[in-house]
Amino acid sequence: MDENQAWAALETAPRPILTSLFAAEPDRLDRLVVEEAGLRFDFSKTHLDGGSTDAFAALAEARDLAAAREALFAGRPVNPTEGRAAEHSAERGQGAPESVARAANLHARMRALIDAIEAEAFGPVRHVVHIGIGGSALGPDFLIDALGRDSGRYETAVVSNVDGAALEEALAGFDPHTTLIAIASKTFTTTETMLNARSALAWLEQGGVADPYGRVVALTASPERAVEFGVDETRILPFAESVGGRYSLWSAIGFPAALALGWEAFEQLLEGAAAMDRHFRLAPPRSNAPVLAAFADRYYANVRGCETRAVFAYDERLRLLPSYLQQLEMESNGKSVKLDGSPVRRATAPITWGGVGTDAQHAVFQLLHQGTHLVPVEFVAAVEPDHALDEDHHRQLLINCFAQGAALMAGKASEDPHRSYPGDRPSTTILLDRVDPFTLGALIAFYEHRTFANAVLLGINPFDQFGVELGKAMAKAMDGGEAIDFDPSTQALIDRALGSEGRE
Ligand code: F6P
Repeated sequence: MDENQAWAALETAPRPILTSLFAAEPDRLDRLVVEEAGLRFDFSKTHLDGGSTDAFAALAEARDLAAAREALFAGRPVNPTEGRAAEHSAERGQGAPESVARAANLHARMRALIDAIEAEAFGPVRHVVHIGIGGSALGPDFLIDALGRDSGRYETAVVSNVDGAALEEALAGFDPHTTLIAIASKTFTTTETMLNARSALAWLEQGGVADPYGRVVALTASPERAVEFGVDETRILPFAESVGGRYSLWSAIGFPAALALGWEAFEQLLEGAAAMDRHFRLAPPRSNAPVLAAFADRYYANVRGCETRAVFAYDERLRLLPSYLQQLEMESNGKSVKLDGSPVRRATAPITWGGVGTDAQHAVFQLLHQGTHLVPVEFVAAVEPDHALDEDHHRQLLINCFAQGAALMAGKASEDPHRSYPGDRPSTTILLDRVDPFTLGALIAFYEHRTFANAVLLGINPFDQFGVELGKAMAKAMDGGEAIDFDPSTQALIDRALGSEGRE
């Protein structure tokens, strides 16, 4: 079956009803539940049936997913528009031997710096301000929020927004004499990060720190720019150009997480991701969690026309997962052209959105149950709680999570249309044994590989992000006062809010 035949088979197949699929396919749970690395992936409440799974497997073969996967792990240039490999898995020891060795060396350097900080070689450090944006902030923020709640090691603030209110708030509770500033930027040119970094340095200086640059660490793939900025070479933690921004939390960008959680925890995170790398690489498509997830993603986006997908973390520790995933999925696969530049002609990344259960149930679930949009939902929960309160809290949390999936699927007919639930609404459940560095590493790597598998099925490049450049260029032009004819609306906004100063 070639690519077109596979899509035709998918598009013309009768649309199954979820509840009847369980009766029609008694082996459904065996086929559509994958257990790996302390995670249970349950795809059985999606509309993937035997026929569509076969068609997607044929599509994966036609698109040569196996070869693309090997190219990824071999460090070949899977990002042709930027002429680069995508070697985030080498950070976890899975990849081309020379890249794995280089990553291990850079990790050793990172560990040595952490040891030195712990030994107070730079004076006492109690607080860390991590300054970065996008992929240089979302990952560390997520990790520290999920795993560092009671580590008690360092108080860390992650600052990304150029709005001074963000940095001001972060610095408010910190003492400049015991604060370390980590500047995280792959390129070391990002306007927001550089401005925040300069303001943080000014804060150190104003706070009476004799050598402000002595309290700065740079995390970057452009060490020469960090040197130019004034950071001492011994406090620059480089990472490879082939590690993409939104895939970089495993590299030096993860430094504040390694510092906050401890090196051992950071290593477990890498090990969990490595376990998922091996699974993605070796498991056959029909029992491969990232691949099955991509099949479901493509089914809803391309066969059912779903424009969004929703992710709900039924665990407070995972509350930042939806924002982390938004960048990973939308910046990677929000594309309109294929690798060869021709139009994709199919919907690419759906809009990823979501929130935290149970809160979201009382805010947005109305639309999920009775709205006119079909939204594939993903529930992410953990078997073990992480608090000392009555165990009923966790029981209620999980009961609610499972009840929502069941209700979306089953629905409920009523003579009163207002009280009728159509049902047949799909969901995926990802159940972690517990939220720890290993399972979180595996979970994040699962999402990375799912994103890649989606891109391969579509024939697009998930590793570039040219879409963000035009807005940056316009901001630069505005900032530099270039004589550009902005549209009347934009010009009026500039005049109203920035006046002539805004154009200087
Ligand atoms: O603007 C998008 C982007 O390039 C992201 O891909 C990246 O994660 C972020 O900006 C930050 O870039 P940098 O790490 O170079 O500062």
